[in-house]
Order: sequence, then structure tokens, then C-alpha cells
Amino acid sequence: MNNCEITIRKFQLIVKLLHISNLNLLLGKYCLFLVINLPLKIYNKFNNDDFEKSLNRKMLTAKNIKKNYGNLQVLKGIDLEINQGEVISIVGASGAGKTTLLQILGTLDKADSGEVLLNGVDYSLLKDKELAKFRNEKISFIFQFHNLMPEFTAIENVCLPAWIGGKANAESTKKAEDLIQLLGLKERAKHFPSELSGGEQQRVAVARALINSPSVVFADEPSGNLDSKNAEELHQLFFELRKQFNQTFVIITHNEHLANMADRKLVMQDGIILV
Ligand SMILES: Nc1ncnc2c1ncn2[C@@H]1O[C@H](COP(=O)(O)OP(=O)(O)O)[C@@H](O)[C@H]1O
Ligand SMILES: [Mg+2]
Repeated sequence: MNNCEITIRKFQLIVKLLHISNLNLLLGKYCLFLVINLPLKIYNKFNNDDFEKSLNRKMLTAKNIKKNYGNLQVLKGIDLEINQGEVISIVGASGAGKTTLLQILGTLDKADSGEVLLNGVDYSLLKDKELAKFRNEKISFIFQFHNLMPEFTAIENVCLPAWIGGKANAESTKKAEDLIQLLGLKERAKHFPSELSGGEQQRVAVARALINSPSVVFADEPSGNLDSKNAEELHQLFFELRKQFNQTFVIITHNEHLANMADRKLVMQDGIILV
């Protein structure tokens, strides 16, 4: 062998060694990948349902919520867990603290003590601006009186929370049109609130509540101002929306039928939840 051949053989040997070590490295990496991923894959395969459902669990958690107005103890330590897609009704005599609780759960009011977490986010840690953004994106309200803006048309009222959230007009309008159609208001889209019936106004308020696809919709006696036919239609609508969008609703109501239709009925008395 001359010098040149020796150099070539040496070079080939180095390449071979490198190749083997790279191969080992690759094999090693693959084994590590298997060691880490296989148990996870097997776990997910056999627990797929539980795994999926766990994503739906505990969307809203309230821990030991207390609230006083002067000497009046309005909430005396409320604990609550609400899952994604649940429809919860809250019932109880006037003055029991239902509205106060709903306002605290919905960031409109602050508890004196206790914690509220929505999707794991503790409201009390958010600064004012962050809280406003969080509320706009994640939380909606439907009140007894629709609170629509009289100078805006039905569809504009529906778009308002999206505009406030800085969403593009075309995107918001398309979504508002879809919601308006879904809620049977297509012919009324360009009408002003004063030109709509009570039932129609409340359905516009529902569409407005859904425009930003919130995590939860809080409703405070939403059918309290409607006749029985419109009230029943509105109640059916909540369950239809839950079916279509897995929408979570927390509804204060004096309507026994609606309260009993809910997945869970919470009874409040003197600032505590009885059941
Ligand atoms: N801003 C407030 N200032 C003083 N007292 C209040 C205030 N808001 C509610 N309350 C009192 O707290 C109690 C519970 O009210 P609320 O939560 O509205 O009850 P509910 O909705 O069950 O009728 C009532 O006695 C009410 O008068
Ligand atoms: Mg109330």
C-alpha cells in the first residue's frame, strides 16, 4: 500500500466509525422516544374517553367566596365547580345572594375573600386592562332586561363585543349573521331594538353573548321579563346552544321548569349553597 492508499483507507475507516456512531446515536434517540412516548400512547388509547373528558372538567372554580355589604353577610363561603358544557341553574329566594355570586363569578364584582378561577386563571391576579380583555373574550352576560343599545341595529348590537375586542369587521359581521340566522332573527337583523318584540330582543342579547365564543355565559333571570311562550323558547335555545357549541351556561332563574331542566340545580339560601 502506498501512502495515498493508506490515507484513503484511513478516511474510509473514519467515515465508517462516524456512520456507526451516528447510527447508534439515532438508535439511542429512537429508543428514548419510544421509552417516553409508548406509555403515553398506550395510556391515551385506553383512557381516551377519560382523557377527552378531563379537558372538559373544572372550567370554573370558586373557592370559599365571601362578601359583605357593611354588616350584612351576603355570601358566607361559596365553593363551586362548573364543567365545560354544563348548564347550571341557581335558584333561591330574593335576597339570597344569587346576583352577587353571579357578578363575582363573572368578574363584575370582587369578593372580600376567596378565589375564582376560569380556565385556571385567577381573576384577582389580573390588572384592570387584562381583566377587561379577559372578560370580553371569555365571559358573557344575559340580563333580565336585554340592555341592547337603542341606536344600533340588531346585527350591530350582536357585533359590539367583537368590535370592542378588536376583531376584524368582516369576520365579526359574518359570525353575527350566522348567529342571527341560527336564532331565527334573519328578517330582523337590520331593525332597531325598539322595533323588536321582547322575545326577539332577548334572542339578540343571546346572539351578542355568543359572538366572542365565551367560555361561560352568565344569565340573571333571562326570561323574567318574557311571557311563558317566549320564556320556553329561550330556555330551549340555551340547551340547543349547549348541544351545538358545548356552551356553558350559569342561569339564575325563578322559572321552576328551566331550573329543573338544568344539569345541576343549585339552591341558595342566606348566602350559602344548600345543594
Ligand atoms: N351594592 C349593594 N349594597 C348593599 N347591599 C347590597 C348590594 N347588592 C346587594 N345587596 C344586598 O345583598 C343581598 C343579596 O342581594 P342579591 O345578591 O341581589 O340577591 P338575589 O339576587 O338572590 O335576590 C340583599 O339583601 C341585597 O339587598
Ligand atoms: Mg338577583
